[in-house]
Amino acid sequence: MIVRLPVQWIVAHRVTLIPGDGIGPEVADATVRVLDAAGANVEWERVELTSAIIQAAGEELPPTVIESVERTRVGLKGPVTTPVAGGFQSVNVALRRRLDLFANIRPIRQLPGLKTRYQDVHIDMVLFRENTEDLYSGIEHEVVKDVVTSLKVITRTASTRIARYAFDYTRAQGRKKVIAVHKANIMKLGDGLFLNCCREVAAQYPEIEYKELIVDNASMQMVIRPQQFDVLVMPNLYGDIVSDLAAGLVGGLGIVPGANIGQDHAVFEAVHGSAPDIAGKNLANPTALILSAVSMLEYLGEKQTAQRIRQAVETVYREGKALTGDVGGGAKTTEFTDAVIGALG
Ligand code: NAI
Repeated sequence: MIVRLPVQWIVAHRVTLIPGDGIGPEVADATVRVLDAAGANVEWERVELTSAIIQAAGEELPPTVIESVERTRVGLKGPVTTPVAGGFQSVNVALRRRLDLFANIRPIRQLPGLKTRYQDVHIDMVLFRENTEDLYSGIEHEVVKDVVTSLKVITRTASTRIARYAFDYTRAQGRKKVIAVHKANIMKLGDGLFLNCCREVAAQYPEIEYKELIVDNASMQMVIRPQQFDVLVMPNLYGDIVSDLAAGLVGGLGIVPGANIGQDHAVFEAVHGSAPDIAGKNLANPTALILSAVSMLEYLGEKQTAQRIRQAVETVYREGKALTGDVGGGAKTTEFTDAVIGALG
């Protein structure tokens, strides 16, 4: 006999909410409002993490943050400011490495009605960025005064893991082509190992077309003919740079979501940073974090709610009346959020 429980008895998914700093709290508030209005089956565990807190704590990952994500296993995270040339290490890099969130996934898609330079071509690609090593290992030395080395670490384990994840995704989604992005003509050993791992994995997926592009050419091709790209897989640094480039093709950082996935944990966050130039002004576009939360709901199995929110966001873009400044509108963060809530079916 199947016993149907009343909706209120169904246990909610506990999710760690890390609003971050800069525009983080504004886009996080917007996202929470939308998910709450949609009746998402989520219970938030809010943890504060800002550059000021990190500086005061003297460590980039205060225990409250890590304990919460280890407990809930799922996080929704806003950006956190990282000091440039000195100061503490990036909290994002630390979190990804500590939880072994090895796959960084960034879908690059156009939004209906949004006018961009590329509105006449169909752009729909997914970037897979290795998230735990490469030049982001943070191993730097001043050998002697004014001579610094930064070590680029590439391992078979991490390269094979991200390649397999990208190919599995491609197969599961019925996509057709994977391109590995590299600079193995110069970094013959490091990027060479990454490429060899991609080739070995590709051989196990004969139905999927596999190609390789050097990162500089890949960047140029992306600007000239973005419609040729389907799935891309690359080491950490190229993934960081190419994903901002790709975001620029479809309307900018305000709209591109992201996910960091590991074996046991997942943290969903937008591609963009803390945008200090617009922080605290109610100008930030929360679309990227809202769509990151949509991916989170899909990951949690809440597919219907995810679909409703995605459709509401698309409706607001299609109507084009309540868009934020970065995508050519005049609406405030809160006005855009109200419009999305109003469009929830
Ligand atoms: P950024 O992504 O914060 O901003 C780049 C440009 O895009 C700015 O003009 C900004 O106003 C605009 N922008 C970004 N997000 C937007 C949004 N949602 N709505 C409207 N406009 C938006 O990159 P930037 O300036 O290089 O980095 C600022 C800080 O953020 C740095 O400390 C950096 O380390 C940190 N950062 C943190 C990340 C994270 O926590 N995941 C990711 C990237 C950067």
